[in-house]
Amino acid sequence: MTYPRKHLLAIEGLEPPHLADLLDLAESYALLNRSGKTQRDLLKGRTLINLFFEDSTRTRTSFELAGKRLGADVINMSVSTSSVNKGETLLDTASTLNAMHCDLLVVRHGQSGAPSLLSQKVDAAVINAGDGTHEHPTQALLDALTIRRHKGRLEGLVVAICGDIAHSRVARSNMHLLTTMGSRVRVVGPPTLIPAESARLGVEVFHDMKAGLAGADVVMMLRLQRERMSGGMVPSAREFFRFYGLDAEKLAHAKPDSIVMHPGPMNRGVEIDSAIADHLTRSVIGEQVEMGVACRMAVLDMLSRQLPRNR
Ligand code: ASP
Ligand code: CP
Repeated sequence: MTYPRKHLLAIEGLEPPHLADLLDLAESYALLNRSGKTQRDLLKGRTLINLFFEDSTRTRTSFELAGKRLGADVINMSVSTSSVNKGETLLDTASTLNAMHCDLLVVRHGQSGAPSLLSQKVDAAVINAGDGTHEHPTQALLDALTIRRHKGRLEGLVVAICGDIAHSRVARSNMHLLTTMGSRVRVVGPPTLIPAESARLGVEVFHDMKAGLAGADVVMMLRLQRERMSGGMVPSAREFFRFYGLDAEKLAHAKPDSIVMHPGPMNRGVEIDSAIADHLTRSVIGEQVEMGVACRMAVLDMLSRQLPRNR
């Protein structure tokens, strides 16, 4: 097994063997989870702290579940009721947690680069659980695992990532992971929501859903992240749905066996029609959540191998 770093801060820079090893390990945890077994000796005596400065349902709970299934002591720090409200800085908060000998620190923050900054100040292995518009590495891993389980591979697949690409750390991590693993990635959305760096990242840009979805194996929908937008970047939810919302008519342009993904949370009727989100054979949104637990177990396992014992 290869993993070259102490922390998991980004997908960018990881190479195919690192990603393949993480996905293979995650696959073994997916099977373990389905069997109902746990492996509580693996992280016994280790402490994992979830430090979320932004809202989360899936990521926070799945890191908690992953840590517990591997036997770690898991603490969820509620930032909204913490001393951050009394003016304590991010770095002082982290130093406080560090003094408690935390081994694994899972951080979500609204500022791009915050987990990286923390990783330079604490002894713990830091895992980025989403930072601003930068990256959400464990989301890309769980998306890749879900795709691999359905399509048997990543190489050569046409993956269309649609909607608000500019504000999406999910899109950025997926672009890095999927292009590294040989997928053909397209980004589809209005010009105001496509980042300028897309060409540098080796992806094709489309502004029309029918053209962008033509022949796609995977259709990944993203939420309009209004909390990160300044000014009116999109006209109205209704108009956005008409041009960019995924419904049966637009999905008909993708391959007949294409799968539909969404990282969640969904805004039904804005970027995705309910009938598609709940489609029994095409939608794999529930499986993405299941694979999230397996991928996070794999990441905790991999990083803990490099932690010193008895800190
Ligand atoms: N939950 C994902 C994130 O935190 C996607 C989203 O919020 O739209 O980046
Ligand atoms: N996909 C995702 O990160 O979901 P949460 O924001 O609910 O954690």
